Amino acid sequence: MMAKTITVSLADASSTRSLGVCLGQSLPAGSVILLKGDLGSGKTTLVQGIGEGLGITELIVSPTFTLINEYTEGRLPLYHFDLYRTEPEEVAALHPETYWEGVEFALGIVAIEWAERLPYLPPSYVSVCLSYQSGGDRRVDLLGVGEFQLDYLDELATLPQRDSPTEYGFSESENC
Ligand SMILES: Nc1ncnc2c1ncn2[C@@H]1O[C@H](COP(=O)(O)OP(=O)(O)O)[C@@H](O)[C@H]1O
Ligand SMILES: [Mg+2]
Repeated sequence: MMAKTITVSLADASSTRSLGVCLGQSLPAGSVILLKGDLGSGKTTLVQGIGEGLGITELIVSPTFTLINEYTEGRLPLYHFDLYRTEPEEVAALHPETYWEGVEFALGIVAIEWAERLPYLPPSYVSVCLSYQSGGDRRVDLLGVGEFQLDYLDELATLPQRDSPTEYGFSESENC
């Protein structure tokens, strides 16, 4: 089956967060979200929404020095990586696979900022690419890769999208 990319326009930071909330409410244990996009494109904002959707009340901030933060108070554990300015060997030494294999750590949601720095990829994941658009809003391209093609991605695809994605804004109340 050809995987399809779903493109949504995010008019402001709360739209980015709402998309994250939707993902956090619906993602199954073992999901890996690989986040790509320039500095300031909204990766951390999306992960904060995922945390909210999971029911995590603790403030989620990028794990700059530790490279990974774990949050265990929600529906599922959230493992948040930020690989900005890392080298592949440094990332390999973290053994990121232990967070998605479900042996050493309980299966949860793994969210990885700067996922292009991963030396290897999980067998299944959701690719989330954020980019700037003119006017200051953001565009997000979502793609399910591997064995689980998640239903919510299909649901997102059925949302009213226009030729110009800037005309469409994501709102949690309508779409979750
Ligand atoms: N859709 C959006 N439109 C406009 N600003 C946004 C949007 N999403 C996030 N932001 C803002 O962009 C800034 C950087 O976001 P952040 O999530 O820290 O980016 P990153 O983690 O990719 O560096 C924050 O001030 C955030 O509120
Ligand atoms: Mg960030």
